Amino acid sequence: MLTANQKNQLMKRLYTICYVSKASVDITKDDVKEIFKITESSNNATDISGILLYSFGNFFQVLEGEKKDLVHLYEEKIKKDTRHSNIYEVFSREIESPIFSNYLTQFQTITTSIQLNEIRNYLKANRTNAMSDKLSRLLKPFMIFD
Ligand SMILES: Cc1cc2nc3c(=O)[nH]c(=O)nc-3n(C[C@H](O)[C@H](O)[C@H](O)COP(=O)(O)O)c2cc1C
Repeated sequence: MLTANQKNQLMKRLYTICYVSKASVDITKDDVKEIFKITESSNNATDISGILLYSFGNFFQVLEGEKKDLVHLYEEKIKKDTRHSNIYEVFSREIESPIFSNYLTQFQTITTSIQLNEIRNYLKANRTNAMSDKLSRLLKPFMIFD
């Protein structure tokens, strides 16, 4: 017998999108704070999990959630947002279950072990042959790998 929650999960098609991008040259610390604020509150309210990092002029974002919601958010809002450009998509694929427990945003590098573990698990779960070295290089500025 499935619980209501399990049924709900089955009916949803879960998806993930992960990308890196370049912040616009005139972006300020307050702009980034503003992006963090809306991202955290809106994504946590709509059941989207993942992480948004900003480090030295670049963003790294992982989004996990219902496919329809994610694709809409990504195509209609995030990609059209002029506060960043040069979006390089790392993953855009269906997933069985989300890795991140909620949505969080963070300046500079990730150093707490829980967050690092979530990112490691995410990368492990989604890793494909096509990218590995390149991805590690892309992510280096955002986190401390052992
Ligand atoms: C790098 C970056 C990541 C963003 N990520 C999200 C996000 O995950 N969720 C979100 O609601 N808005 C995100 N935004 C902000 C949206 O682009 C948009 O400004 C915001 O959703 C408000 O849209 P609205 O005024 O049409 O409601 C992000 C913006 C940038 C520059």
